[in-house]
Amino acid sequence: MSSLAVLHASELVTLSGSKRPRFGAELSEVGIVRDGGMLVRGGKIEKVGPSDEIEKNLGDAEIVDARGRVVMPGFVDAHTHLVFAGNRLGDFERRARGETYEQIAKAGGGICSTVEKTRAASEADLLAQAKTHANWFLRCGTTTVEAKSGYGLTVEDELKILRVLRQLKEEVRLEIVSTFLGAHAVPKKLSPDEYLDIVITEMLPRVTEEKLAEFCDVFCERGYFDIDQAHKILSAAKKLGLNLRGHVDQLTNSGGAKLMAEIGATTADHLEQTDGQGIAALKKAKVQPVLLPGSVYALGSSRYPRAREMIEAGLGVVLATDFNPGSSPTPSMPMVLSLACTQMKLAPAEAITASTLNAAYSLNRGDKIGSLEPGKLANFAIFDCEDYRELAYWFGIPQTHSVYIKGERIL
Ligand code: NIG
Ligand code: FE
Repeated sequence: MSSLAVLHASELVTLSGSKRPRFGAELSEVGIVRDGGMLVRGGKIEKVGPSDEIEKNLGDAEIVDARGRVVMPGFVDAHTHLVFAGNRLGDFERRARGETYEQIAKAGGGICSTVEKTRAASEADLLAQAKTHANWFLRCGTTTVEAKSGYGLTVEDELKILRVLRQLKEEVRLEIVSTFLGAHAVPKKLSPDEYLDIVITEMLPRVTEEKLAEFCDVFCERGYFDIDQAHKILSAAKKLGLNLRGHVDQLTNSGGAKLMAEIGATTADHLEQTDGQGIAALKKAKVQPVLLPGSVYALGSSRYPRAREMIEAGLGVVLATDFNPGSSPTPSMPMVLSLACTQMKLAPAEAITASTLNAAYSLNRGDKIGSLEPGKLANFAIFDCEDYRELAYWFGIPQTHSVYIKGERIL
């Protein structure tokens, strides 16, 4: 079994000591060990502590000198749309001219334009583009991503995307958790109810039979799927054993947070328009909010979710990129940290917890990843800075030095 000793990190940010997501004031506890070290054996973390203690029992471990650098769990990005074809440069220019996301979608841009390109792409082409995206995530220090379907909107095209994800897992080291988002938009020529029927009676059974996803998601929004339709999809998915996530209250407050609470979802994502009642409902049902400030920024809006209220209410807040070609073309968790601190007033420590440990719990992987402690996978990143707060402070400059997954250096 190969072993590795990371030594002399200026800060080893452990996030250790919690068997559940961190809530409220706990979000600020990141567990820093100065001049920190870590022993890794067989892909797992064996020991974490001050370097002089780790050094006592090195055996044949390969030494990684982390002097002057921060060592952290790899980011866990709990909301991405990793597989799609092409880009949305046209939408981007139109937004710069002042058109809104909804106006652009009505005028032939939006999700449906990416659907057309994704349907036309072969599995091999999609896989090649997905590999490029996967590499972008790694370069930002992310070691696990959740990834959704949703740009197919026919049985075969949705399955195609999920199969690309399955193949991607075989071919790249980035860890991937798949989510079925058949209800991302209503395809042209079908009514919402006609399409809903296909999602429920044809897609969901195939997705679960072929074990292509762990979660089911839905875009609950004016012009997409309303509360009743979202409820139907999510309850059908739940019956088939899938866990639930949802795009809710992004552009309008339709009571989406309440729906996610009622149905027992794992996460409620976006929440830009969610009010105090929605926050209270999430708290009561222990639903984790996944906040996506990259999409608020890229859409040119200033309406960020009420993150401080969510933290103060005791929610297990998560931060993610929402990486997608339309509303959030960034794979960068450090960029998200910057936005979280400057726009949503999170402390850097809170933002780090939300993008590692809490994110891991939101993917049902809190026992394996998200912190650096004995027994967990050795998925970590080393950054070219001495203080973890620099990750949120400097922006627009990559600080990733190296990335390890299961104890192996992959970048
Ligand atoms: O999370 N809101 C819906 N889905 C994506 C946008 C997808 C797209 O525009 O292509 C989101 O923002
Ligand atoms: Fe999204």
